[in-house]
Amino acid sequence: MKPLSKTVEQFTESIFSTMTKMAIDNKAINLSQGFPDFDGPSWVIDLATKALRENKNQYAPSMGILPLREAISHNYKRFYGMTVNPLSEVVVTNGATEAIFCTCLGLLNPGDEVVVLEPFYDSYLASIQLAGAKVVPVTLKAPDFHFDLNELKAAINSKTKLLIINNPHNPTGKVFSAEEIETLGNLARENDFYILSDEVYEFLTFGVAHKPTATYADLKERTITISSTGKTFGLTGWKIGWAIGPAQLIKAIHNVHQFSTFCVAQPFQWAMAEALIKMDEYLVEFKAEYARKKDILINGLTERGFKVLNPAGTYFVMAQLPEGRTDVEFCKDLILSKKVATIPTSAFYLKSDEGTRMIRFCFAKKDETLLSALENLK
Ligand SMILES: Cc1ncc(COP(=O)(O)O)c(C=O)c1O
Repeated sequence: MKPLSKTVEQFTESIFSTMTKMAIDNKAINLSQGFPDFDGPSWVIDLATKALRENKNQYAPSMGILPLREAISHNYKRFYGMTVNPLSEVVVTNGATEAIFCTCLGLLNPGDEVVVLEPFYDSYLASIQLAGAKVVPVTLKAPDFHFDLNELKAAINSKTKLLIINNPHNPTGKVFSAEEIETLGNLARENDFYILSDEVYEFLTFGVAHKPTATYADLKERTITISSTGKTFGLTGWKIGWAIGPAQLIKAIHNVHQFSTFCVAQPFQWAMAEALIKMDEYLVEFKAEYARKKDILINGLTERGFKVLNPAGTYFVMAQLPEGRTDVEFCKDLILSKKVATIPTSAFYLKSDEGTRMIRFCFAKKDETLLSALENLK
């Protein structure tokens, strides 16, 4: 038989699936994969049920139903003062993951280079490789996860087509400062590359405001902003995501979406179209709940001797390991001896070995789950 795709052949099972499987096999409490172990708000689920019963069950328009694109546009204006044309500057995708994939396939040619700040979400690498482009990692340095400007400048050349930023940042919990985004923006302008800004944790910040990359001076014309409702509504299985950006970029991204999935499940789009414009009250409660859960986990881990890095955003907490321990063996040991599953962070790095000295906990869990995990970690 003839060999299969050389690019795909390199892909292995993601660390998230591996750790979740190991957690299940060992009956461990799963603080590894980034999704809640509780359901999303019942009022949003009711909206989907209503849509399912109201004949919204056929293919949706490929760009996404207009009321959802209008709601997305409405929120960018309301929360960030950004003007987004719902007719030409928004495409609804199967989660942020598909938006990332379509952006890479829509913008990149073989031989192009993409600068990615590591540690990074694993789908970036696969999407870039499937587009035939080259990943150029630049390391965010612990404990504050800053980038070194010289390292960054050295990573950029005439082939650089795209920079991927994730803000708020998984797995570190970092929220980039205005100065950092401005530095990245200046480099994008000077070297004429695009920015993919993955902002799926936009509403999960603690004491700092989220500011989309596209709202910085002159960056809108070269920025594709990607987000989704998975994290914000605790409904990761619905996979309602989007890319917004200049019309000609969205057209290219949509061209890939059209031939990969064509459209997104229609009933969930109707539910989200309504939920997004009614989220004010919900957001207050949502942020308070997650801030509380973060404190439960951080205080508990600190009491148990973990050296935790307090996140400014996301629902993840990184902990630095004691001297002499490495992440994969530490995580396996935690599952076997303490029945708690976490994520070894080396999986988020390509270049640096910094990840081997940290692990990631997820606090998007019921209080009882967090407390049981902390009890096990005593
Ligand atoms: C940084 C980042 N981007 C994108 C995603 C994927 O989002 P979605 O579930 O909407 O595809 C995740 C999910 O964990 C993430 O952490």
